[in-house]
Amino acid sequence: MSDTVFQQCTDPACGGTADLSATAFRCPRCGGLLDVAYDWNRVPVPKSLKHFEGKWANRANPLDFSGVWRFRELLPFAPDDAIITIGEGQTLCQRADAVASYAGLNAGRLFLQYEGMNPSGSFKDNGMCAAFTHARMTGAARAACASTGNTSASLAVYCAATQLMRGVIFIGSGKISYGKLSQALEHGALTLQIHGDFDDALRRVQEVSRQLGIYLVNSVNPFRLEGQKTIMYRVLEALRWEVPDWVVVPGGNLGNVSSFAKAFGELAELGLIARVPRLAVINAAGADTFYQLYEKHGLRWNGGQFDQSKIDSYYTALDSNNRRADTLASAIEINRPVNLPKALRALDRCNGVVRSVPDAEILDAKAKIGAGGLGCEPASAASVAGLRQLVREGVIGKDERVVCILTGHVLKDSDETVAYHTADQATFDAKLGKRGVKSVAFANRAVPVPNDLAAIVKAIETHG
Ligand code: F0G
Repeated sequence: MSDTVFQQCTDPACGGTADLSATAFRCPRCGGLLDVAYDWNRVPVPKSLKHFEGKWANRANPLDFSGVWRFRELLPFAPDDAIITIGEGQTLCQRADAVASYAGLNAGRLFLQYEGMNPSGSFKDNGMCAAFTHARMTGAARAACASTGNTSASLAVYCAATQLMRGVIFIGSGKISYGKLSQALEHGALTLQIHGDFDDALRRVQEVSRQLGIYLVNSVNPFRLEGQKTIMYRVLEALRWEVPDWVVVPGGNLGNVSSFAKAFGELAELGLIARVPRLAVINAAGADTFYQLYEKHGLRWNGGQFDQSKIDSYYTALDSNNRRADTLASAIEINRPVNLPKALRALDRCNGVVRSVPDAEILDAKAKIGAGGLGCEPASAASVAGLRQLVREGVIGKDERVVCILTGHVLKDSDETVAYHTADQATFDAKLGKRGVKSVAFANRAVPVPNDLAAIVKAIETHG
């Protein structure tokens, strides 16, 4: 085993390790989650984060152009010649005063980290290029994932762009937006529609990957999370290397929050930042296992000795009440988040909180984000809806500096956007009303006009 880079059990009491090249992504000793671990004394680490600004001058090198790999000294598990990049991570961190005002923050205090600009339109590409790199290092011929849509879109894009592996995708039936499904199909991945939801599909893909030796790219794969750390490096870079007070992120399978805390924990350990930000994870109310367990049942990391019986009895109750995850924010429609232990550790490290927001507030926040100039999908807007709630509660102060992560592009789920803005009664009732959405407060309705010059002029003067 390389003693510089290896995989390490997240449970400090277990201490199990696996080789860098292992692909089971479970601790061989206890079956728990693994981290990618480095002996930082043996890898060269820059003395200051400003070092990374120098990479901009070297953009002709694809590794320095990539918004992931230009930080490769902070995820040093692959030699340069093994690295896979398709130009991911060219993203924006934009000051958003109009959205700040909606959320209750003062001007200049809110920044939106827009991950929709990635090649497949979501943050997943940050992790996929890292997983693909590891897969290539291990000689994999096929890669698989279960997905609510974005992981599968990303996998399909990387398979098509690199021609290195065959992609196999597991999706739940009727649980994926057309934008995302269209990407899987267009880019030629083998797409299996399982009769069930994401939680079922994730269970199956792990079994099948084990049985057939297919490389798994879900976020249980710790190399995915290494790539996603760079979202935080780019946030810091955009803020001139100043650590924000809060990072607010939607929570689904809880990969991002786990990855972000690892990023900040390592930077602090390496002396590259003086403090870590606080983290807020936002669940959709229809899929809020993490909120329930953390905020209502008091589940805590507890140095790795978290109370598994609280999790078990929560899941037993879900099953006996036949409660399935159910939210319009389909990307985070997940009841059994695979990274739950890592997310507990993340909140412990970064003094975190969890909130749960109803679909109506997610859709209103989404419309406000759109009106502010950045389009996102419903799951992404949970971050701003959650921020608004936390400001209202006084947990986040009006003058604190906050970054919300917009995880996916607005065109991923245009059905929801059109349903919200047209508020056509039949569509509205069918899609939104039954989920308790009573109003579409910020709907920008299309104005019907006869094909007549005077009528068109009048409509513009009335509504413009
Ligand atoms: N936002 C979007 C747009 C997502 O697609 C996802 C997860 C999340 C947030 C949640 O992130 O899992 O790190 O907490 N989508 C996965 C998928 C599950 O299959 O595409 P997380």
